[in-house]
Amino acid sequence: MSKLHSVEPVLEKLGIKDVNLGVTTGYEWFDTKGDITSSVSPVDGKEIAKVKNATMDDYDMVMKKAQKAFVEWRKVPAPVRGEVVRQIGLALREYKEELGILVTYEMGKIYQEGLGEVQEMIDICDFAVGQARLINGVNLQSERVNHRLSEQYHPLGIVGLITSYNFPVAVWAWNTALAAVAGDVVVWKPSSKTPLTAIATMRIIGDVLKRNNVPEGVFNLVIAKSSVMGDNFLADKRIPLFSVTGSTAVGKHVGAIVGKRLGKTILELGGNNAVIITPSADIQMAVMSTVFGTVGTAGQRCTTTRRVIIHEDVYDEVRDKFIAAYKGIEKRIGNPLDEDYLVGPLIDNFAVELFQNAIEQVQKEGGKILFGGQVLQGEGYESGNYVVPCIAEAENHYKIVQEETFAPIVYFIKYSGDITNAIAIQNDVPQGLSSACFTLNMREAETFLSYAGSDCGIANVNLGTSGAEIGGAFGGEKDTGGGRESGSDAWKAYMRRQTNTVNYGTDLPLAQGIKFDI
Ligand code: UN1
Repeated sequence: MSKLHSVEPVLEKLGIKDVNLGVTTGYEWFDTKGDITSSVSPVDGKEIAKVKNATMDDYDMVMKKAQKAFVEWRKVPAPVRGEVVRQIGLALREYKEELGILVTYEMGKIYQEGLGEVQEMIDICDFAVGQARLINGVNLQSERVNHRLSEQYHPLGIVGLITSYNFPVAVWAWNTALAAVAGDVVVWKPSSKTPLTAIATMRIIGDVLKRNNVPEGVFNLVIAKSSVMGDNFLADKRIPLFSVTGSTAVGKHVGAIVGKRLGKTILELGGNNAVIITPSADIQMAVMSTVFGTVGTAGQRCTTTRRVIIHEDVYDEVRDKFIAAYKGIEKRIGNPLDEDYLVGPLIDNFAVELFQNAIEQVQKEGGKILFGGQVLQGEGYESGNYVVPCIAEAENHYKIVQEETFAPIVYFIKYSGDITNAIAIQNDVPQGLSSACFTLNMREAETFLSYAGSDCGIANVNLGTSGAEIGGAFGGEKDTGGGRESGSDAWKAYMRRQTNTVNYGTDLPLAQGIKFDI
C-alpha cells in the first residue's frame, strides 16, 4: 500500500511561508534587502518558497553580534551549554517527522533517509551533551622539580560553517552541537539549493534559545549569494575556523584562502569509495549491503560506493546478483515522499548531465554498461531529475573512474590474486574517505585494516561504505581533505589547546638543564 507524505501541513508546522527571511542570530530574524531567491524541489520541479538573502551589511551585522556573543558564551560553563544542546535535541525529536519530510522534498532523498538525517542530528546532540562534561585535558610529567605540566582546551571563537545540499541539516548539527558545547559561536551558510531546511532548523531551535537566554549571535544563519558571502567570508580574520563540506575543488579553494591567513579548516570533501568483495565473502550479504551504498540517496552521499572491486572467482556471481537487485530497484524509482520508492531524484538537471557525461565517458575509455543509465520521463518524472542507477564495467585507471561523479553510477573492477592486489586498486585514487571489505577470512580482514591496508579515513569489514554512525570521527585522507567531524575526539578541532607549566617551588630550573646564572 502506497504511503505518500504531503508537504503542505509540514510547511505550515515548520513556519515556512511564501517568502522567508534568511538571516537570524538565534531567535531574532532580520528583514534583509538582498536578492530574493527560490528553492525548487527536485521531486517535482516546483518552487517550494522564496528566501530573502543577506547583503554585505547584513553579514557584517551578524558577525558583530557573533563576536559579542562569543565573549558571553565562552563564560557559560560547558555543562550549561550542554543543557541548551540537550533541549535542542528534544526540539528536533518533536519535529523529526516534519523536518525529515522537508529534507526529502527540498533535497530529494527518500522519506526514510530524511528521517535518518534528523535522527543523525538528534544523535550528535546527545553525544555533545555528554561531551560537555568530558571536555578534558591531560596532566603530563614535568622534567623539572616542583613543576606541573598540563594541557587544557579553551573555546576558539567564531566557526564559519558551509554545508552541502546532500546532508543539508545533519552536517550543521555535527558541527554546531560540538562547537556550542565547546563555547564557540557558529555562522552558518547553507547550500543555496537547500535554504528552507536551514530556515526550518533555526525556527525549531529558536524557542529553546529564547527560553535559555542564549545571547543572540551564538547560533547564526546567513543565507546569501556567493557573490555577497564567498571569498570575503573565507578571508574574514574574525573567523579562526572554517568547517566546509563540498567537492575537492571547493575544498582546495577554501584551503587556499583560509590557509593564506593561517586560519584553521575542517575539510570534508569528495570520496571515491570502494567495496572489495573477496572469494571468502558471504556474497549474498555483500551484494545486499553494497547496493544500499551504491543507490542510497541516489548516489549523492560523499560515502556512496563508487567502485566495487571483485575477485575474478566470484565476479560473475556478484555481477548477476547485483543486476538482479538493480532490476528490483528500477521498479522503485520515484517520488521520495512515497514510501514505496527506494530511489528519488538527483538534486537538479546539472547533476543529471554529470551522470550522463560519466556514462558516456566510461564507454569512451573502454568500459561497458551492464545496467541502467537512462533518464526517466513521463508521469511523476516531470522534473527530469530521475535516473536509473547505472552499473559499468571499468578499469581503475580510467580518468572518469578516478573522479567522483555525484550520481548513482558504480564501476565494477575485477581483481585476481590475493587481497593486497585489491587493496592496491582501492587505494589508487586521489580520494580517501570511506572503504569496505567483505570477507569471512580473518587474515584478509586484518590485512585490509592494517597499516598496509585501506588508506581511507573510514574502513569497514562486512558492511558498506556509507551510513556511518555519529560516534566515530568522520572524514578522510588525501583529496578528501583530512578533516574530522562528529564523534570520537573531533571536538578538539573546535577548541584551542593550551600547554600550561606551573612552578610551585622556590628555584628557577630551566628546561633542558640550561644554566643561566645572573
Ligand atoms: C555526507 O555525505 O556528506 O556516513 C555525509 C554517511 C552519513 C553522512 C554522510 N552518516 O553516509
